[in-house]
Amino acid sequence: MTLFPGYFETPFATSIIARAKKGGLVEFDFVDPRDFTADRHRTVDDYPYGGGCGMVMKPGPVKSALDFVKQRCAAAGAEPPLTVYLTPQGELLKQKTVVEFSEREHILLFCGHYEDIDCRARSLFDREISVGDYVLSGGEPAAALIADALVRKIPGALGNPESSTEDSFSKEEGLFDCPHYTRPPEWEGKRVPDVLLNGDHKKITEYRRARALINTMRVRPDLLKIERLSEEDFKIVKRYFLDYHDIGD
Ligand code: ADE
Repeated sequence: MTLFPGYFETPFATSIIARAKKGGLVEFDFVDPRDFTADRHRTVDDYPYGGGCGMVMKPGPVKSALDFVKQRCAAAGAEPPLTVYLTPQGELLKQKTVVEFSEREHILLFCGHYEDIDCRARSLFDREISVGDYVLSGGEPAAALIADALVRKIPGALGNPESSTEDSFSKEEGLFDCPHYTRPPEWEGKRVPDVLLNGDHKKITEYRRARALINTMRVRPDLLKIERLSEEDFKIVKRYFLDYHDIGD
């Protein structure tokens, strides 16, 4: 639900989302709250009570647009959508939220604009989600981002069926993915770690786990859930981090 459906033209016509749409794996519909206004100027915003800068989205068109979607779902015999208001004041989006959303048949992402929506309309939504601790000029980039993360979770949407389980495995577990290398084996004096070249799959798996653990520790120690790590994880980290120094970049 957006005042600017044109915003999504390129992201939804590109790459994995476009392919998923073409293959009938996902469908997108756009509803513009401006179509649910009654005045000549199709007004969706107004001045804030109490003063202050910025405008506020009026609650009426928000409710009418939501009711329209709910009625349409009911008429089609579909379950009502999970309604999500995108706002920097919302709960921070995590991979586990993406997985939870991906289990729904329908999801409605409401892209706010101006300063905020009238606070009385917030109770119309099931969830309030922020995509990060920064302020965007509207909810559209947040909606495109969530759509991308959701489409990746649809079975068959990715070319390689393992890609999603691997990256989500890491993130859902609170770990970074391991670093990746491709040819050439040496580039600008930097060599691909030997372990990735010798075809020993057990060692490769161990190496990748070690790198995921070490990189998470270095950059996002807050993600790491120590209690979830196994004895083997500690051994792997010790082996690679403390004993073995050719771990690459
Ligand atoms: N709208 C503006 N900023 C936002 C953010 N960080 N997340 C979600 N929606 C937003």
